[in-house]
Amino acid sequence: MNENTEIKELFYDEEAVSKESFVMIIFGGAGDLSKRKILPALYHLYKDNKIPDEFSILGLGRTLMTDEKYREVVKDSVCEYTGEICEESVGNEFLRHFYYLPGDVGKKDFYQTLFTMVDRLLFHDSTNIIFYLAVSPVLVPEIINNLTNYNLSKGKYNLKVILEKPFGGDKKSAIELNEMLLKVFNEYQIYRIDHYLGKETVQNIIFFRFANSIFEPLWNRNYVDNIQITVAEDFGIEGRGAFYEKTGVVRDMVQNHIMQLIALVAMESPAGFDPDLVRNEKIKVFASIRVMEENQIENSVIIGQYGSGKIGNKEIIGYRQEKGVALDSNVPTFFAARFFIDNWRWAGVPFYVRTGKSLAKHITEIYVEFKHPPLQMFGKTFDISEPNAFVLEIQPQESISLRFSVKYPYQVNKPYPVNMDFDYMKSFNLAGHFPYERLLIDCMRGDLTLFARQDEIVAMWTVIDPIIKGIERISARSIDLYSPGTFGPERADRLIKMDGRAWHIK
Ligand code: BG6
Repeated sequence: MNENTEIKELFYDEEAVSKESFVMIIFGGAGDLSKRKILPALYHLYKDNKIPDEFSILGLGRTLMTDEKYREVVKDSVCEYTGEICEESVGNEFLRHFYYLPGDVGKKDFYQTLFTMVDRLLFHDSTNIIFYLAVSPVLVPEIINNLTNYNLSKGKYNLKVILEKPFGGDKKSAIELNEMLLKVFNEYQIYRIDHYLGKETVQNIIFFRFANSIFEPLWNRNYVDNIQITVAEDFGIEGRGAFYEKTGVVRDMVQNHIMQLIALVAMESPAGFDPDLVRNEKIKVFASIRVMEENQIENSVIIGQYGSGKIGNKEIIGYRQEKGVALDSNVPTFFAARFFIDNWRWAGVPFYVRTGKSLAKHITEIYVEFKHPPLQMFGKTFDISEPNAFVLEIQPQESISLRFSVKYPYQVNKPYPVNMDFDYMKSFNLAGHFPYERLLIDCMRGDLTLFARQDEIVAMWTVIDPIIKGIERISARSIDLYSPGTFGPERADRLIKMDGRAWHIK
């Protein structure tokens, strides 16, 4: 495919960037998420001139720190996680926007001090405040409660709140959390982040489907045999044992990232790109996913946990040996399942998904396999085992390939599978932007399209709740251990083989 060398300015046109000043209050401002994702993303936006001139970031946390010390923390994390040497001048200018307030966010009187400080930081007559709850999910209800007591709904401020997943631990708690949120915020002020939606290649799923005419006519049960979504990671839980023990693979990856990928692949074209029009279509997909009965779960869901071993030359300690993990933990780190979407477009087409830690490869891929041709026109020698496929690799490479068969030169009727490839890196220089950049920009300018609405969350939990219950029942007995560097327990292969198919991976 042709490279497009003409494209130079690739990061958001000016109209897409908010000019309104704001104060962002980051709960957990010096925590892991802030350091790895939020602060580096803010730096990129600043460096690229995609953030208003007037903004203040107020980090909150328990650790006692001065503003100066916090600015050092910000600088160190930006340098570490962008991998860029921060230019001294840009760095110092940027750091001047940061402030820090130590304290216990669980205490009511902390909020009085907080808002006195916020009033000082607000610019002119601006009242724009963004709360970013970058804290452990257990602290979220406490913070929201305290904000409720502070009675922010009086309308003094123009508020937005950014929340990180998991949104609740099941449907019931998700609904309760939302009821609490609605005491302080309106739904249009709530930005529920799923960072997968900030990835360009993920947004491109709807783009290639609905900006082209050649794919959509084939994108249905008449032509598609099955769809596979693989989100594989070749590393473990990276020191997050305590978090993972409560979360497990389903709450960590399936209830959010994988459900969103399914929705984008399966949804109907929205009537427009108004946030609600897009989200309405996604909800219809979640509502059509067949909810598994308890007795179906054993046949349609496979779970596993990584033991110790090696990935390449790297030694991997088993999940149970990770810090914060119980020695007899049966929390799954691998999940594979077969879903069906019971709607007109997808009736009967299996959606196979799998995700896990410490697997053979780091790759996120959507594989759409088409049905075989109706006749074996080229006789028995024509091996039809290689079906046509559309492969979208989301990471680490960002590419789209169309797989089809051609005649092998000078051989009688010998087919040969080839790929027609499009590679983002070759065509556009996509390097260096974090998904959080796009999501922060959208939040600043008030665009909710890439954030989940509450009914979306509830619809996802409706699918996930029975799966979690089923899994808990299975894992109470035992859990399959798998070797690091594989694609999970052998039973995951059997799940798809049973249907006469095989997993695909690039
Ligand atoms: C996070 C999960 O939401 O997504 C992590 O908590 C996971 O466990 C991560 O590793 C994967 O994100 P990405 O963008 O690296 O694929």
